[in-house]
Amino acid sequence: MLIIGIAAALLTLAGQVRPPGPGEGGECPRLAASGASADLYCIRLFPAAGFDASGTAELSWVEGPFTVAVARDGTHRWNLRFSVRGLPDSLLHGRRSGFVAWAASPTMARLVRLGSIHGAGDVELGPVALDRFLVLISAEPDTSVREPRGRMVLRGESASNRLRPPDNYQFFLGSFGAPRPPEPHAHEGMQSDESGWTHVPMFPGLDMLPAEMALRPEAMPWLPGQSGAAAPARPAEVVNLQNGDTLALVAGPVRRTIAGREYTMLGFNGQYPGPLLRVEQGAEVVVRLVNHLEVPTTVHWHGIRLENRFDGVPDLTQPAVAPGEEFLYRLRFPDTGVFWYHPHVREDMQQDLGLYGNIFVAPAAGANSGPGRREFLILDDLLVGEAGLVPYGHETPTHAAMGRFGNVMLVNGETSWRATARPGEVVRFYLTNAANTRTFNLSFGAGIPIKVVGSDRGTYAREEWVESVFIAPAERYIVDVRFPAAGRVPLLNRVRAIDHVFGRFFDVTDTMGVVEVRGQPGQAPGFGRLAEGPEAGALDSLVAAYVGRAPERTLEVRVEFTGLPFVSLQLMRLDSIYFNPVEWEGTMPGMNWATTGTETRWILRDMDTGAENRDIHWRFRRGSLVRIRLVGTRNTLHGMQHPIHMHGQRFLVLAVNGKRNPNPVWKDTVLLPAGGSLDLLAEMSNPGTWMLHCHIAEHLQSGMMMHFDVEEP
Ligand code: C2O
Ligand code: CU
Repeated sequence: MLIIGIAAALLTLAGQVRPPGPGEGGECPRLAASGASADLYCIRLFPAAGFDASGTAELSWVEGPFTVAVARDGTHRWNLRFSVRGLPDSLLHGRRSGFVAWAASPTMARLVRLGSIHGAGDVELGPVALDRFLVLISAEPDTSVREPRGRMVLRGESASNRLRPPDNYQFFLGSFGAPRPPEPHAHEGMQSDESGWTHVPMFPGLDMLPAEMALRPEAMPWLPGQSGAAAPARPAEVVNLQNGDTLALVAGPVRRTIAGREYTMLGFNGQYPGPLLRVEQGAEVVVRLVNHLEVPTTVHWHGIRLENRFDGVPDLTQPAVAPGEEFLYRLRFPDTGVFWYHPHVREDMQQDLGLYGNIFVAPAAGANSGPGRREFLILDDLLVGEAGLVPYGHETPTHAAMGRFGNVMLVNGETSWRATARPGEVVRFYLTNAANTRTFNLSFGAGIPIKVVGSDRGTYAREEWVESVFIAPAERYIVDVRFPAAGRVPLLNRVRAIDHVFGRFFDVTDTMGVVEVRGQPGQAPGFGRLAEGPEAGALDSLVAAYVGRAPERTLEVRVEFTGLPFVSLQLMRLDSIYFNPVEWEGTMPGMNWATTGTETRWILRDMDTGAENRDIHWRFRRGSLVRIRLVGTRNTLHGMQHPIHMHGQRFLVLAVNGKRNPNPVWKDTVLLPAGGSLDLLAEMSNPGTWMLHCHIAEHLQSGMMMHFDVEEP
């Protein structure tokens, strides 16, 4: 009855809505001021017949340690920030009556009471986790009701509701037409068609259009040579480096066995991942990179505030190291925490093939560094087809649109990562995302609480409990987990992917590994408490002093394509009706694969000067604090998230979509959601010429990078 009642009310509303007139229904002013997309994040509320009410509901960031809030199952979480006018008080009779806001799934299968609404001022309610939803405001004789019973006054719907099966005849007709004819390329030893490419794997359970399946990238396929010399790779070793030590780091081919299949891949010192380097804060060490690859390379020490000339950026801080040559890196470690290293040449192939490792910088002896049990987890994914690894584009990357999503999930290079813990024991996990483009949403089993302690460059102002860890490429998180009872606890990656052809969300769950909990019970006194980080005061006062002030620099993110085949262009156009805050999965595999760096230009645009990518060269004084705003443009053919990385310096997130960040931490990489806005406060502490870029490897290769100088005053 209830459902029918609501459905009837909605139908009535739907037939009688009228758009708000000028000056009514202010467009989520805080969001608008931040530059974030009102089309994606501001819901306009329409009145029912006979009412003059109007308003908006902003999808507001749910504060937490991550720039995007996600439930354990991958559903995005939002607060709804209401701003309404003209609610008809004539409908209210009695002291208990009032207006109540609701969120419901489109079928009404789920209904969430958000709370009471009054006519004056903004009110933020929630959170609510739904893929797509309706927002309703009803007039209730008794505001304590659990279900709406009164008259509907206002309603609106989330932008995700626009995802619908396409009924676009032009699109379908075009999709069955002939794609671009394949270029003949030969490559020995591969099962392939005349283009030289093996087929890209389909996403299980999804349909692809015939024209999409016929697409091929316009590039030469490349895989590392099947050199018989490559020895089987070993798991990573821990290398303890003392002040003054030298380490030889040899990049070369290795043989890997992954899920029972053999591949020629790449590794540092014959290991997967590369050796875990353990140093003490303040130490200085030398790393001698030896290039035994067939291609030039460098090593970038991601997140380390080292001397500029050892930053590993080819043609900026050093020439790329040719095959057979060497380079000496002198490293110093001013910050504690977890860092990583990877090549800064064609990351889309070199890093993806296994060239990455962690660095753990421990506090100088004696300092407290959390629970004794440590696990370092590097997350990755690999794209494997029927004939083996899907080749890389030789002269330009494939997958330039969304980045190369893999279909085999890896933790520390393995498909079945295992660890043990004692019941009640607390394990500190140091998580690094080394994937080309994939954002992970990690959780332990059936809802074991996770305590977030730190991120890229230090500890949070305040520890927080979360149900899952949201980690974008190149980000790091430090989390403590207590395993309560004996048993097997899976490490899961759970996301909500989108079937773009049929316009629906669906669940994807990957088991990344297992923690075996057994043995003598361990003790974890005080684990239930959340502590303040040692830098809380300093971090809070920086945010308080700078949040809300106009940015000094604004970068807008957009994309341009040239020469795309008809079907790709049409798919992108269709898909642009809605951009999810995060593109979690590669659910348009053919179109994405066939789009190369030649056809794609990802753009960082300086909004003050109009300069783009390499033409941007900012100058800052050493010691300055700079307010930088990142804006993901809605109005571009493909909008998605971008993990933005700044070399050589550290920064804080001041605000997400204009909403103040109550729990700052020093970062070097941050995820800008699609159509979103981030205000950063960057500390320019380290002199030199540095890069700022998107860490999606294919986006970086498609131009998405710029430079900045930090100069002595
Ligand atoms: Cu980890 Cu310039 O990157
Ligand atoms: Cu990007």
